[in-house]
Amino acid sequence: MTDWSERHRREGNVISFIPTMGFLHEGHLSLMKEGLLQGDKLIISIFVNPTQFGPGEDFDAYPCDLERDFQLAEDIGVDVVFTPNKADFYPQGFDTFIDQEQLPNHLCGLSRSGHFQGVMTIVTKLFHVVNPDIAVFGEKDFQQLAIIRRMVKDLNFNIRIIGHPIVRESDGLAMSSRNSKLTPAQRITGLCLINSLKKAQSSLKNNKTNAAAIIQDTVEFIGSHPDTEIDYIKICDPDTLDDVDSIDRPVVMAMAVKVGTTRLIDNMIL
Ligand code: PAJ
Repeated sequence: MTDWSERHRREGNVISFIPTMGFLHEGHLSLMKEGLLQGDKLIISIFVNPTQFGPGEDFDAYPCDLERDFQLAEDIGVDVVFTPNKADFYPQGFDTFIDQEQLPNHLCGLSRSGHFQGVMTIVTKLFHVVNPDIAVFGEKDFQQLAIIRRMVKDLNFNIRIIGHPIVRESDGLAMSSRNSKLTPAQRITGLCLINSLKKAQSSLKNNKTNAAAIIQDTVEFIGSHPDTEIDYIKICDPDTLDDVDSIDRPVVMAMAVKVGTTRLIDNMIL
């Protein structure tokens, strides 16, 4: 992989990279289109990274269809699909991890202990092996994007990080590989995330600027849907992810909600 990158860079190509865990959907494809626009060669990786899943999470049940992914990648113009193998990437004795002090102590990091350590470690490994000029990440995983930006700055990676807006189904549900796990009824219930974000946006337009009051309305709205369990609903500073009390500047409203056994996340800049 590294040789391929080096060879094409020497020929003057800008290398774009999109890391994924596969089961590709329009959200991933949209990142790839961005990668194609920004660079000359496009590499994607497909690797369901064990170190970012906690015990009891869905590592073993994570959806997978490599043949379909290869076809989608080829159709869109990806040059290389890099699929490292688990035993090569995490050989026996593997003992080094990347971590951060502040940003992981918010949002998803609180309920998914060690998750971002796993993400930072795999992204670092992929960056070293793929050695891209540009990498594109989705704003769907808002905290992940913030953490990767911080890591790239702090550890002097010579890689430009591009954030890409959330891609949604026509009814507003944020696309996710995990949506495939929803039953038809849960699929409809899943709309309560985006609908609650839209409600918050319109409350704000009506001068309701108290974050706690907006969050309380949202808890009630989501709680009125069957089969839902709120992990968190937060209104926070987009850079530090610290809670905001009064909304007097752009903030990010972010949430994680379990619908049945499927954990969905969504966010919106208000
Ligand atoms: P995965 O969930 O497969 O997502 C890969 C990339 O696609 C991430 O940057 C994610 O934010 C983006 N993405 C997913 N759904 C999106 C949507 N609806 N709109 C826009 N972008 C979307 O995120 C991971 O994998 C992993 O943590 C990874 C970075 C690959 C490390 O293992």
